[in-house]
Amino acid sequence: MVFEFPPHIPLAHLPTPIELLDRLSRKLSGPKLLVKRDDLSGTPLTGNKIRKLEFFAKAALDTGCDTLITCGAIQSNHARATAVVAAKLGLNSYLVLRGEAGPPAESNLLLDQLVGAEVEFVTHAQYFKALDIMHHRAQGLAQKGRKAYVIPEGGSNALGCMGYIKAVRELKAQLEAMGRKIDYIVSPVGSGGTLAGLILGVKLFGLESRVIGINVSSTAEHHTKRVRRILDDTIQQFKLDIEIDQSDIEIIGGYVGLGYAKSRLEEIEFIKMVAQTEGLILDPVYTGKTMYGLADQIKQGRFGREHSILFVHTGGIFGLFTRSLSDFGVRSEASEKYSPFFRSFEENSMSI
Ligand SMILES: Cc1ncc(COP(=O)(O)O)c(C=O)c1O
Repeated sequence: MVFEFPPHIPLAHLPTPIELLDRLSRKLSGPKLLVKRDDLSGTPLTGNKIRKLEFFAKAALDTGCDTLITCGAIQSNHARATAVVAAKLGLNSYLVLRGEAGPPAESNLLLDQLVGAEVEFVTHAQYFKALDIMHHRAQGLAQKGRKAYVIPEGGSNALGCMGYIKAVRELKAQLEAMGRKIDYIVSPVGSGGTLAGLILGVKLFGLESRVIGINVSSTAEHHTKRVRRILDDTIQQFKLDIEIDQSDIEIIGGYVGLGYAKSRLEEIEFIKMVAQTEGLILDPVYTGKTMYGLADQIKQGRFGREHSILFVHTGGIFGLFTRSLSDFGVRSEASEKYSPFFRSFEENSMSI
C-alpha cells in the first residue's frame, strides 16, 4: 500500500531497534516476547511522542509559527519532548502543566526548564479546560505579533496519529528483513494516539498482527471511546480507504492500580525484575504498568507459548527519576527517613 504521509521533519533516530526478550519469555513461561525500542528514539527526545512531533513541528514551521504550546501532567513526557523539539528548531515553547512545582524541579520538569520552556502550572480543576487555556495563550501571543502552534494533550489527534502509522511501516520492513511474523503488538494507552496509529497502520500496511492496548489511567471504556474518535477523525481528515471495526479496538483494563503515575509495590518489583532479567529499563507510569499487565495476562492464559508478542517500549525513562531509592527496595538511611512509602508496603507480598 502506498500512502503519502503529510510533510514531516526527521527528528527521531529511526528505525528504532527490535530486540528479543528470550530470558523474560522463559521467566514468564510464556510466548515469544520482542520489544520495539522506541525509548531509543533519542535521548532528551526519548519515547513515542517524538514520532508525533515530527509532523506537528513541520506544520508549525510551514505556517510561520514561532512557539509550540502544549499541555500535560507535571512530569509529562510529551511536554518535555515538545519543549526539547522547540529548542532544537529555534522555537519557543509554552507548557500548561497540571500540578504544583515543588522545588527543586526534577526529571522531565527539569528538562523543560533547562531548554527554556515557559511553564504555567494549573490545578486539576483548571486542567479540564487546558485546550481553552492554550488557545487563549496563543491569542495573547498573536496580539504581540507572534504565532503559536497548539498541540493537544499527548499529541493525540489526526496529524499526531501519523507518527505511529509510519512506525508500522517501519516495523513491517524490519519484520520482513528478520523473516518474522508477530501475532500481537502491545502498547500503553495514555491519550490514545499511539494505539490509534498502530491500529490504522496495521490495517493500512496489511500486517497480520492484532493490536492491543493497556490503559494506564481512567478506564478501558473511556479510552476506547477516545481512540475511536481519533481513528474516525484520522480516517476522515486523511481520506483513508479503510474501515475500522469496533472489534479492532482492544484495550485491556484493570492495570491502573493506585491511579495514574502511582505505583504499587508489585509494579515496582516487576520493573526491577525486568531490569535485572533483560537490562531493559521500564518507566513506572506507562511501560512498567503495561508490561506488568501483559505479564499478568500471560499468567492468566490469554497468550500461549505458540504466540509472539511485540511490546512497544514507548519511553518515559525520566519518570523513573521521580522515585526514591527506597521505592525500589534499595535501603539507605536517608531514603528510609524520607520515604514512608516503602515502609507502608513492606509487608505486602510481591507477586509475579
Ligand atoms: C512514555 C509514554 N508511553 C506511552 C504514552 C501513551 O501514549 P498515548 O498518549 O499516545 O496514548 C505516553 C503518553 O504520554 C508516554 O509518555
